[in-house]
Amino acid sequence: MTSRIDGPLKVTGRARYGLDHNFPGMLHGYVITSTIANGEIVAMDVTAAKGAAGVVAVYSPFDPLTLRKPNSPILGETWVPLQDRDVAHYGQPIGFVVAQTYEQARDAAMLVEVSYDERPARTSLRANLDLAEDGPPAMDGAPPTHVVLAPGVESIEEALAASPVVVEGTYYTAAQNHAAMEPHSAVAHWDDDGLTIYSGNQGASFQQADMAAALEVEPSSVHTVNPFVGGAFGGKGSTSTPAFLAAAASRVLGRPVKAALSREQVFTATANRAETLQEIALGADRDGTLIAVRHDSWCSAATDLSFVEQTSHATSKEWYRTPNLAVSQKVVPLNIPRTTFMRAPGEAPGSFALESAMDELAVALDMDPIELRLRNGSIGPVGSDLQWSSKYLEDCYRIGAERFGWSRRSATGRADGDWLVGMGMATAVFPALRFPATTEITLRADDTAVISVGGADPGTGLLTVMALIGAESLDIAPERITPRLGLSAYPPGGLSGGSTATASVGSAIMVAASAVIDDLQAVASAPGAPFAGQDVTYADGRLLGGGRSLTFGELLTALGRESISASGSSAPGEELTKHSFASFGAQFCEVRVHRWTREARVSRMLGVFDAGRIINEKAARSQMIGGMIWGVSAALHEALEIEENGRLANADLAGYLLPVNADIPEVDVHFVQHPDTLHNPVGARGVGEIGTVGMAAAVANAVHNATGIRVRHIPITIEDLL
Ligand code: MOS
Repeated sequence: MTSRIDGPLKVTGRARYGLDHNFPGMLHGYVITSTIANGEIVAMDVTAAKGAAGVVAVYSPFDPLTLRKPNSPILGETWVPLQDRDVAHYGQPIGFVVAQTYEQARDAAMLVEVSYDERPARTSLRANLDLAEDGPPAMDGAPPTHVVLAPGVESIEEALAASPVVVEGTYYTAAQNHAAMEPHSAVAHWDDDGLTIYSGNQGASFQQADMAAALEVEPSSVHTVNPFVGGAFGGKGSTSTPAFLAAAASRVLGRPVKAALSREQVFTATANRAETLQEIALGADRDGTLIAVRHDSWCSAATDLSFVEQTSHATSKEWYRTPNLAVSQKVVPLNIPRTTFMRAPGEAPGSFALESAMDELAVALDMDPIELRLRNGSIGPVGSDLQWSSKYLEDCYRIGAERFGWSRRSATGRADGDWLVGMGMATAVFPALRFPATTEITLRADDTAVISVGGADPGTGLLTVMALIGAESLDIAPERITPRLGLSAYPPGGLSGGSTATASVGSAIMVAASAVIDDLQAVASAPGAPFAGQDVTYADGRLLGGGRSLTFGELLTALGRESISASGSSAPGEELTKHSFASFGAQFCEVRVHRWTREARVSRMLGVFDAGRIINEKAARSQMIGGMIWGVSAALHEALEIEENGRLANADLAGYLLPVNADIPEVDVHFVQHPDTLHNPVGARGVGEIGTVGMAAAVANAVHNATGIRVRHIPITIEDLL
């Protein structure tokens, strides 16, 4: 139970985020965005803007800053602004004004006259399903469709027709914005060493590679500095428009440039979670055993189809055992802001559909929803020979049911005065992944250690986890460790995305610790050293040999050295050929719906999770609470409202509904802890994204239990419950 070590810096305002950096002679940039959703820019009259007070430069597709599109193996191709005259969505960056002050840049931006050749915008997912295409393969290489049939079965329809009980439904989930606390921003500064850029991101080495590719310079001449992120969760995985424009303008102008998006621009000039439409059919035997699962999904995408929200693959293929499965995944190109990874991409909206359908099946069978899920537990993804490395989902259901008082649930809810009260639950699964990572450990003569990695802590608690795993690996107190991350100058540490950071960075710390201890022992017993010629062991931060011991600091001092350093790397390997890996959980929710006003309020929630070993229970618990609140938000509040012409109707934090304290009750979180060393040496699987998975369905299922009304879309509003 360690409090996060960067907490005091953050709550006292001493943490320096990207935008907090200032330099002498620094200029300010303001991004101009499009006011149509589809078409071509015919002309941009920048005369008035160029003549406005303080203006230094105005860039546009007619006078662009040259930028190439970076292409990363993990994040894909990143869009860069101003390179052509096409407008593919409302609020797309189309210009950049640089001036002496932010206000001057913003004022001048309002003076730019843009003429468009406008085309009709396609913005509705439902109205444009005829445009659907097979998306690119999933991240694991899976093709857009995946069919597994039992011997002798010809089609999924045949398997469904042969099932004694079938439920079918169409589910819809709304698009969401990340709404990170710090709007995407950057401060760029060039000198003889190249570019230094301060801009919130989820992995310093990823941003370094993006910037180098975009600017066509060597990665070694890009230095990214970002120890504090200001919120991310997928929204700062790819490098942002302000970073590209500030860096390119700063290079041309020879002065530092700062650029930040306004809150409204964050909604359109970054990337959102796609909206999804999902059709599910479940066929089961009368005892609840699944016979057939069909899950077809459509998601919205930008016109270049650059991102697919993998709802079918991420849930129906992974979660339950079934002899017959058919999943498909299609993308619909629309004139909407770009889509990208958002906390549990695939699983979050996919679980709303699948876990609502499972609840409907339980109702159809007159069976307890937990019993139905227990009957269909998977031993691995459907169609895969590789079983889960470790899975304690049954414990999650059982412990959750006990803690939540599930046995008091009635199949038709209960009344409490004017409130209709219902309980719902859902499963949560999220794949356990990790990325290659390298860390460096430096032991110093004052008996402290520094652990460095070029990853990021977007608020997840990674910095503290580094100190805890480092302390354990070096056998010293965590207070003696200074963890550092967020700089590309440190060894590449993967991406804080996909709930991978603890497993990736933690494993590398273990390797680096063992290397630096080996090196210490070698120098300790070298000729002329304090333990010359002796067998030296290491424990408790001390070297022991010949009946005496020295701390590593005392040894380094005796050797006249200030420090000793070693690096360690770890990457996924052979384990991927032996097992499948995922974290598991069970989400429980109680909802009260007012009999007369029909408002739905979550009154209790509980998540029980099996995420392998938990390194810092306090931080892990916070992650789960945040994820569960995010799920409630998706279920009852959040939706991007896109007008027919493509304009966002609610691109601010007044119109875009988020839960406030009064919407969220006490949240209970419990971990069943079983270290999973088949996945990585630390034994910890991902504990970030799984918190949100399943929660929206648990809310919807509780609403059904309370009212008898099945709402197959989120967010659920008062109108749905009239
Ligand atoms: Mo992850 S989608 O970067 O929370």
